[in-house]
Amino acid sequence: MSLKDKRALITGASSGIGAACARMLAGEGARVILTGRNETALKELAEATGGEAITADLRDMAQIERLFARTGERIDILINNAGIAPRAPIIDGDPDHFRELLEVNVLALTRCTQLALPMFDAQKGGHIINLSSMSGHRVPPSGGFYAATKFAVRAVTEALRYELKAAGSRTRVATISPGFVDTPLLDLYFKGSEEKLETLREDIVMLTPADIAAAVLHILQAPEHVETGDIQLRPSGQGV
Ligand SMILES: NC(=O)c1ccc[n+]([C@@H]2O[C@H](COP(=O)([O-])OP(=O)(O)OC[C@H]3O[C@@H](n4cnc5c(N)ncnc54)[C@H](OP(=O)(O)O)[C@@H]3O)[C@@H](O)[C@H]2O)c1
Repeated sequence: MSLKDKRALITGASSGIGAACARMLAGEGARVILTGRNETALKELAEATGGEAITADLRDMAQIERLFARTGERIDILINNAGIAPRAPIIDGDPDHFRELLEVNVLALTRCTQLALPMFDAQKGGHIINLSSMSGHRVPPSGGFYAATKFAVRAVTEALRYELKAAGSRTRVATISPGFVDTPLLDLYFKGSEEKLETLREDIVMLTPADIAAAVLHILQAPEHVETGDIQLRPSGQGV
């Protein structure tokens, strides 16, 4: 599908993968609506992309509702990208981290999905792309509660797909499951074992946010009879 004049809402657009998706979509002629908490970063990106910035803390359901109320009447694409990865081992992780992981990575994604669906064209439907992770396919030793939330993203997406088919909707849903992408999220994930991240950066060429944006483009540009389920992308040097 041509992205010209399509309206795309991108969560977590202030950084990393979300920002790269915004640039890519804007480059294809889409009108991007950018959300996150970092107002300065969002405004800069809005200026660069001709998009619109709406700040919202996705841990707060009322702010999610305000975000959608401000988004306008129609969108064509929702990219549920916002996510966090604080260190959250099961045996002694901070319960506040568990709650926040659930709120941002799963509950917000699900609520954004609910609010986006009525905003898609009733006949043509829209596109929803959810950011899962390779940690949503297999649990790495350091995966902790983060991995649990990324498995949940895949389950939510699959459940949604069946519900949409049952309802006769033409909206297509997909997940993207990256391995290591060099973004600020990795600094959080490796907090306390920074030397591992340093070694990783020396040992492999990580994915870039632009690599993930290219996968988003692939999904969005597929012909209407093609529905991508999941794209797994790893740096070619990543072992697991
Ligand atoms: N980097 C990787 O290796 C990797 C691998 C697999 C999957 N992923 C997934 O890819 C997605 C994007 O991650 P990234 O690597 O691009 O990380 P990032 O650069 O840290 O970006 C995360 C984004 O999420 C937003 N966000 C976090 N908490 C939020 C909140 N409470 N309310 C609103 N927005 C919030 C941040 O915006 P503000 O700070 O402005 O709120 C930021 O824009 C995540 O879902 C992540 O799990 C990343």
